[in-house]
Amino acid sequence: MSKKRRIVVTSALPYANGDIHLGHLVEYIQTDFWVRFQKLRGNDCVYICADDTHGTPIMIRARKEGITPEELIARSHALHLKDFTDFQIAFDNYYSTNSPENKALSERIYRAVEQQGFVTKKTTPQLYCEHCRMFLPDRFVKGTCPKCGATGQYGDSCDKCGATYGAEELGQPVCTTCGGTPVVRDSEHLYFELEPQHDYLEKWIPAHTTSDVSNKLLEWFKEPLRGWCISRDAPYFGFEIPGYKDKFFYVWVDAPIGYMASLANWQAKQGGGKAGEVDVSMWNDPDVELYHFIGKDIIRFHCLFWPGMLHAAGFKGPNKVFVHGFLTVNGEKMSKSKGTFVNARTYLDNLPPEALRYYYAAKLGGTTDDMDLNLADFVQRVNSDLVGKITNIASRSAQMLQKKLDGRLASLAGHDEELALLAQLRAAGETIASLYEDRRFNQVVAQVCKLADAANEYFDRKEPWKTVKTDAEATRVTLTAALNAFRILAIYLQPILPVYAEKARALFGDAAWTWDSVAETVEGRTLGAYAYLASRIDAKQVEAMVAAATVKPADSGEVAHESRASKNKGKVAPSAPLKPEVAFPDLEKLDLRVGIVTSCEIVPKSSKLLKFVLDAGALGTRTIFSGIRAAYPDPAALVGKEVVFVANLAPRKMSVGVSEGMILFAGEPGACGGVLSPTTPAGGGCTVT
Ligand code: 2FM
Ligand code: ZN
Repeated sequence: MSKKRRIVVTSALPYANGDIHLGHLVEYIQTDFWVRFQKLRGNDCVYICADDTHGTPIMIRARKEGITPEELIARSHALHLKDFTDFQIAFDNYYSTNSPENKALSERIYRAVEQQGFVTKKTTPQLYCEHCRMFLPDRFVKGTCPKCGATGQYGDSCDKCGATYGAEELGQPVCTTCGGTPVVRDSEHLYFELEPQHDYLEKWIPAHTTSDVSNKLLEWFKEPLRGWCISRDAPYFGFEIPGYKDKFFYVWVDAPIGYMASLANWQAKQGGGKAGEVDVSMWNDPDVELYHFIGKDIIRFHCLFWPGMLHAAGFKGPNKVFVHGFLTVNGEKMSKSKGTFVNARTYLDNLPPEALRYYYAAKLGGTTDDMDLNLADFVQRVNSDLVGKITNIASRSAQMLQKKLDGRLASLAGHDEELALLAQLRAAGETIASLYEDRRFNQVVAQVCKLADAANEYFDRKEPWKTVKTDAEATRVTLTAALNAFRILAIYLQPILPVYAEKARALFGDAAWTWDSVAETVEGRTLGAYAYLASRIDAKQVEAMVAAATVKPADSGEVAHESRASKNKGKVAPSAPLKPEVAFPDLEKLDLRVGIVTSCEIVPKSSKLLKFVLDAGALGTRTIFSGIRAAYPDPAALVGKEVVFVANLAPRKMSVGVSEGMILFAGEPGACGGVLSPTTPAGGGCTVT
């Protein structure tokens, strides 16, 4: 018997500020296939993942929602895990990068790298938004490409000409959060120097990934490797760098360390490790194989910085990094306006998870090629192959055996034709196993379909629906052979369709299957109850999913805005009489700005007023009195929200103080006692109060 392998497998950690969608699932589903296959083969395999919780977008999203990053993280963790579980993706540990283990390991690895002399300091000019009071990460600034002049380009690279540059090189930069113009400020940053590991990495990369991936990366090795900036300035949601105040690890430093932290957390839950210590013994064990599944957009983090950092810190690196391509839908990039950017939940509300798992398996070949989910082909393949070809063997045979022949299986001893059929199916086992091992899931499915064709051909040739009327025992033999053929196929498919396989296993009354269970012939037993294994899907279900995923262009931006829009559907503009028309030049006189509510209090002795203090960025602070108390029983809940206000309104002396502007709120016109919400910079129509 071959030795049991010990394997740790990871999928990339999804960001905590977004929903899981069909693009993400390409990775988690295929990793799950591979892990389940390893387990079925009898190997010890641990599937590790976590939410990636740090960084500016998470901080900003939480701020926008008026909640803490921790609250946002907790919510996402629960939603992500539910989506994954409902897609039958079975992690052994689904943790969080915002964990004590990850903090300890990030500090430990950083210190080790620093001691090697691989961390340097450099002062560099960076874009700073005075309104948002933060240095702007690359994706939070847009402007004109310094190379080709294309407008609307992000701060790291140009979509049009492919040039890479520093954000401070952009022409006419704009802060994407507030629309303001950032300034250039110097800031000192820490860099992880890669050049000392030039030779190590040049050998490591081709040995640990496929040639298409490594050839691309190795192009950078013709020149000295550039240092990688690993620090970010406050405000930042992450781990503070030891020895520095207000400097944090860039999210991409502690994200992959999160794999290690999640594994250590899993080990601790198994009762291993020394108390009070983060146990990395399994990670570093030379007998434990480690594999990362990732998308091709994050190769540089996993095949360059990560192995460089692990090696510098004296840790073991992954055995292989498996890279897959992107998902297209109907041959195009996923699109919110076309309804092809589909969240996991939207899919599950309309279609069964098995269908997507089966289709993805049928399309995934273990390469970096993009994979297309063609929605018409999806319906057709699931119905004709999974249901019509594979499941049909079981449903026809089991139902006939149960209805007409007491559900009892025959013995196949001496029935050469039947035994030959089963032998043919078993003979494919090792080929299928090596296809799984190589992640050529499309070939696994092709093999299974070919074997199902052989079983169906046998069934049709034997015509049991006719013989059942004349020769019960011969029919019992036919159905027993067909059901055993199906059983073998269900075992082969178990990593792809675990719940389906579980129902099939129960039908035969077997104990848990292993890969070797195919060798057994189930005979003489009475079948269990036939549970529905897989049902046909209808194009209408797909249409309903696409309709539910379609976002009108005006709503296709941020999620917080979308949910507000849908909540208010059908509640627009009750018929209050319009005020006299104003000319555009009058409107232009108003200077609308964005401010952040730093305090909001009830004004004593006033039943209507709330006193707001706004952080108005370059304009300083503004105190504004608004008569909207009835709409906000808990004014403190407004602290931290961004609001739009009229900044050039003449100060107005009121009995309670001077009001320095007017905040815009959206809601039912005239109904300040009703539901109102401060208009965000992305907000729609508003009522000035
Ligand atoms: O690209 C992403 O979605 C990242 N959150 C992946 C992180 S993978 C690992 F390094 F943590
Ligand atoms: Zn800004």
